[in-house]
Amino acid sequence: MILVTGGAGFIGANFILDWLAACDEPVVNLDKLTYAGNLENLASLVRDARYGFVQGDIVDRALLDNLLAVHKPRAIVHFAAESHVDRSIRGPGEFIRTNVEGAFTLLEAARAYWSSLPSAEKAAFRFHHVSTDEVYGSLAPEAAPFAETHPYAPNSPYSASKAASDHLARAWFHTYRLPVSISNCSNNYGPFHFPEKLIPLVITSALAGKPLPVYGDGRQVRDWLYVRDHCVAIRRILAAGRAGETYNVGGDSEMSNIALIGMICALLDALRPRADGLSYARQIVHVADRPGHDRRYAIDARKIERELGWRPSETLASGIEKTVRWYLENEDWTARVQSGAYREWMTRHYGAAHG
Ligand code: NAD
Ligand code: TYD
Repeated sequence: MILVTGGAGFIGANFILDWLAACDEPVVNLDKLTYAGNLENLASLVRDARYGFVQGDIVDRALLDNLLAVHKPRAIVHFAAESHVDRSIRGPGEFIRTNVEGAFTLLEAARAYWSSLPSAEKAAFRFHHVSTDEVYGSLAPEAAPFAETHPYAPNSPYSASKAASDHLARAWFHTYRLPVSISNCSNNYGPFHFPEKLIPLVITSALAGKPLPVYGDGRQVRDWLYVRDHCVAIRRILAAGRAGETYNVGGDSEMSNIALIGMICALLDALRPRADGLSYARQIVHVADRPGHDRRYAIDARKIERELGWRPSETLASGIEKTVRWYLENEDWTARVQSGAYREWMTRHYGAAHG
């Protein structure tokens, strides 16, 4: 079986659903259920014998030791993190605790467990650390996209904490030979994306008749990747990636925020026109810029394509259309996230003892 951390979040939930659709190898999901953890994302697996859930914190070493001893995973896929840049600016402490101390604790627990394995299992073990392109910092408009050799230059508390965890993961391979792989991925989007992030925020605010806030001039560029393509990339790395290696994962889909928001508004205009017939683009407002806002991220994903045959299957146009349709078909999901009702899910489904 495999152990996934942070599987109740956006990418982790998509990964578990994708994993169990692709194979029958069981998954245990360890998640603290912070505001970003939503077990409703995995409601379709409640009665699936291949799936197990444990509520817990990756900083809790005793819990990790117990979990590893009981379940004996052949791999750990580490997603759990605080992930929102704006929250990291307002309160960096939790980012250091989960992203740095948590990664350290998980690496140490994994090392102790891995050291105790018989040699064949030891050789086959893998710790996969999921990271971000934001560790590389900001790119000039004409600069070449980030390759794996690009120097680290994180600018936000979030990206600095992720960079720290990447360095720890790398060091645990070089010093202890723990079989670690790392992926640095660009901005994801798709189903179950928490509506504090740009794309789901724009879709849900547009439908609610609220302003669509553009930070600064809106000309910041991100390289967008449909979340399922990221999940497939991680599966490929687990299956055939080399320990000690980093793989950059990106969508080959650079777009400025203002152009992306325009694209979402045009799709909504066609699929769910406003009652007054005017475009949702009228709801766009420019607001104060994010402090230290990175201007551009872009990924050079040639290594994972060359070595593992991975390429994104969605274009930005096809992925955004799927995403907009998903939010239109799942407005009850958004409503429960926005009202906070999703946090009662454990109690309703498992009883008060787990709530
Ligand atoms: P998310 O915020 O949606 O989910 C994070 C999950 O981790 C939540 O379920 C939360 O409850 C859990 N968690 C947080 N602290 C924990 C702790 N101390 N112990 C156990 N569980 C904890 O994040 P996401 O967008 O799904 O990102 C997942 C991973 O992918 C992160 O490591 C992030 O840095 C990385 N990443 C994200 C993106 C993106 O665009 N979202 C891009 C590249 C890399
Ligand atoms: P976000 O989804 O927070 O991802 P990240 O900061 O990790 O790239 O933001 C994506 C881009 O959109 C980023 O340049 C900040 C910008 N943005 C806005 O312009 N308005 C918003 O309300 C939000 C949340 C983000």
